[in-house]
Amino acid sequence: MRANATFILPALMAGMSFCFFSCGERGASDAPSTKSEREVFVDSVLATLTVEDKVGEMTQLTLDMLLTGAPYASEEPHRLDSTELREALVKWRVGSILNCGGHAYPPETWRGFITEIQRIAQEEKASGIPVLYGIDAIHGATYTTGAVLGPQQIGLAATWDTAMVREFAQHTAREVREVGIPWNFSPVLDVGRDPRWPRFWETFGEDVLLASDMGEAMVRGYQEGPVPVAATLKHFLGYSQPISGKDRTQAWIPERVLRTYFLPPFQRAIAAGAPAIMVNSGEINGTPVHVDRWVLKDLLREELGFEGVVVTDWEDVKYLYTRHKVAADYKEAVRMAIEAGIDMAMVPVDLEFPQLLMELVKEGEVTEARLDESVRRILGMKYDLGLFHGGALPAAEGGSAAERAAFEGLALQAAGRSMTLLRNDSVAGRPLLPLDPAARVLVTGPTANLLNALNGGWTGTWQGLDTAYNTPGRPTAGQAVERRWAESGGDAVVVPLAMDFGDGDIRAVESAVKRQKPQALVVMVGEMPYTEKPGDIEDLNLPQNQRDLIRAMERTGVPVVLVYVGGRPRTFADVADLPEAFLMAYLPGDYGGEAIAQVLAGDIQPAGRLPFTWPRHPSSHTPYDHKYTDRIHTDFSEKAFQPLFSFGSGMGYARLDLTGVETDRSTYGLQDTVRLTVRFAHGGGREGVPAAEVLQFFSQDSVASITPAVDQLRAWRRVEVQPGAQGETEMAIPVQSLGFINRDNEYVVEPGVFGLRVNGHPPVAIQVVGESKKP
Ligand code: BGC
Repeated sequence: MRANATFILPALMAGMSFCFFSCGERGASDAPSTKSEREVFVDSVLATLTVEDKVGEMTQLTLDMLLTGAPYASEEPHRLDSTELREALVKWRVGSILNCGGHAYPPETWRGFITEIQRIAQEEKASGIPVLYGIDAIHGATYTTGAVLGPQQIGLAATWDTAMVREFAQHTAREVREVGIPWNFSPVLDVGRDPRWPRFWETFGEDVLLASDMGEAMVRGYQEGPVPVAATLKHFLGYSQPISGKDRTQAWIPERVLRTYFLPPFQRAIAAGAPAIMVNSGEINGTPVHVDRWVLKDLLREELGFEGVVVTDWEDVKYLYTRHKVAADYKEAVRMAIEAGIDMAMVPVDLEFPQLLMELVKEGEVTEARLDESVRRILGMKYDLGLFHGGALPAAEGGSAAERAAFEGLALQAAGRSMTLLRNDSVAGRPLLPLDPAARVLVTGPTANLLNALNGGWTGTWQGLDTAYNTPGRPTAGQAVERRWAESGGDAVVVPLAMDFGDGDIRAVESAVKRQKPQALVVMVGEMPYTEKPGDIEDLNLPQNQRDLIRAMERTGVPVVLVYVGGRPRTFADVADLPEAFLMAYLPGDYGGEAIAQVLAGDIQPAGRLPFTWPRHPSSHTPYDHKYTDRIHTDFSEKAFQPLFSFGSGMGYARLDLTGVETDRSTYGLQDTVRLTVRFAHGGGREGVPAAEVLQFFSQDSVASITPAVDQLRAWRRVEVQPGAQGETEMAIPVQSLGFINRDNEYVVEPGVFGLRVNGHPPVAIQVVGESKKP
C-alpha cells in the first residue's frame, strides 16, 4: 500500500471535500492558491503511480463484475464477491465502479457495498486511491429503494421552473451522496428533436434555450448544494437525432446543425462547472463519436475549454469493433478511443481493457504521457469530490425527517407544475376540468393502475418495469383519484386495464360506465416504461387498442378527460379531437398519481407548458423552430404545419390576457439590448384562481443568409396575476442573442428586420442596424 496514509486526512475533510463545489463557480472563487494545492496534490499522487495503476484508474466496471454470480446474472441476494473484488481493484487497480447489479438496493445495502469497496481500494490496492463510484440518478436516486422520485426530465422541462429544478437536483444529490455515491450520470443534454427516439423523455424537449436553462439549473443543483455530487453531461454530441429514430443508429448531422441545436446546452453546462462528460454511443456522418477527434478534442477541449473527465458510454470501446466495424479488434478499438481523447472507459464487463491498454503502452502505441493526461483529470475529479480526504465513505445515516418531507413536497410540487392542460372544452356551459370531487367519476386505461407507468425507465431497474422495486405506499393515478374523491364524498370507480387489453376488456369498461353513470370519464393512455434500445418503436401511433378505447369511451356520451402518461408524444389522429379535455402528465414520478388527482379535482391548477411539438400524424413531426418551406402544403398554401399541440402550449384554470407588448425603441444597434415591456391582466376563469403563464418570447428573422426559422425562443419568464389584477414585466433581450450559425459555422447576428412575439400577441417589428460579418 503506497501513499494511502496521505489520503486519510480527516482534519482536512471539511474544507477539502467541498472544494468541488466552490470550484463549480469557476472564476472569482477559484483562488490561485486552491488551484495550485489541487495541482500539487494530483501531481504528487501521479508521480507514485505505475503504468498498471494508471490504466486501472482509466477503467470503469459495473458493480455486476464484483458480485457473486456472472455479470447480468448476479446471485440473489446480491453480495460482493471478495475474489472478484480483489481481482478488479487490487490486481487490475480499477479506479471506478458504476451502476447497481440490475436493481435498486436499500440505503443500508449501498452503504455496505461502498464501504467495503472503498476499504479494499484504500487498504489493499497498491495505489490506495479511492474508487470513483457513478450511478444514473436521473429523477431522484433511482437505484435506492424508497428514494424520492420526481418527474423525469421531459416533465421537469414542462414546469419552465429552473429554480425548482435546481432544488430538486440538490435534494437528489443529497440522497445519492449519503449512500456513498459522489458521481451522477445526469443530466441528459441531448435536445429532443425526434419523438420516435426512445430517450426523448430523458431530454428537456425540443428547444435549445429551454434545454440549456434547465441543464444549467440541474448541474448547479447537483453540484452547489450542501451535499453535492458531480454531474455528467451526456451524451456528447448529437445523440438524439438518428435518421431512423432508433437508438444508436446512424445520424447525419452537419456541423452547422450540431452547433445550432446540439452544442449550446453542453456549452452552458460546462461553463456552469460540470466536471464530466459522457460520449454519444452513436455515429455522426459515418464516424462513431468515440473515435471522433474533432468532437472530443477540437470542439470539446480546445473550443469549449472542457478540462474534466470524458467517460465513454456502456461498452462503447468494444463496440467500435463488434458493432461499428471501424476497428479490426478490441486492441485497435482501445487505441483509437484513447487517441480520440477518452479518459475513462465504461468497460464495463471485462478486464481486457486495462490489459490491452497496458500492452499498447509497452508497444509504444500509446505514450505514458497520454495516460497521464487522463489520469490527472480523473485524480483531479476525485480530489474535488473530497474522495482523498474522507469523502469516499457513505454518511453514517440518511438525512433528517424534515429534509425528507421537504423533498417529498418538492417532488409533488414538481409533478403538479409539470401537468400540462392542452384542451378543456366546455360541457354544459362550463369547462370540463376541474371535475367535481363530490360527484361520480370512472377512471380507466392502461396507465391508470401502475406506478411504473408514472415513473418510466431508470426506476428501480434500467427499464423501470419490475414492480418489485416500486416505492412502497406510493399510489397509482387510479388509487390517488379514488382517495381524493373519497375525501369529498364523491364516488370514483377504477376499471384497471393491462397494456394488451382487448375488445372484451373495452366492453367490460362500457358496462361499468352504464352501471356507475359517471359525470366524467378519465381515460389514461400512454406507454409503459422503457429506455434505450428496448424502447425503439416501429410506429409512432398509439397502439390500436388504446385508440379503440378512446373511441368507445366517447361513444358512451359521457365527457372524457384524456390523460396521457408517457414521455414521447405518440400520435392518434383518428381519435385525437374526440376527448373534451386533454391533460399531458409526462412521466411525473412517484408523486404523479396525487398530482393528477389534484389537477382533476381542482386542488391545484395545471401549470405546465409543452416543451415540444406534438405531431398530429406519425410522419408529420416538425419542431416549432422549423423553416418557412416546412409550411408549404400540397395545395401550395402555407398550412402544412398543423401539429396536434404546439410547443409552449398549455393552460390553467384561469386565463392570462396579454394587453400590450412594446419595445423601448424601434431601431437597435448590434450591441444594444431590446427592452420589452409586457403587460397582462387576469382574463377570468375559475373563481378565485390566479392566472399563471409562461411568457415566451420568440424572434423571427425576416431575411437571413441561412434560411431563418419561423420562430426562435429567445427568452421566457413565468408570471402570475391575481383575479381582477393586472401586471407588467420587462424582458431584456440583447440584440446579440438574435443570431444563428452561419455558413462558416460561426454565430452571427445579421442586421435587418426582426419580428418579436410574446405568446399569442401580434409580433412587434424592430430594425437592427450595423455592420456584421456576412459569408
Ligand atoms: C446509457 C447512459 C448511462 C450508462 C450508465 C448507458 O447505456 O446510455 O445514459 O449513463 O448506460 O448506466
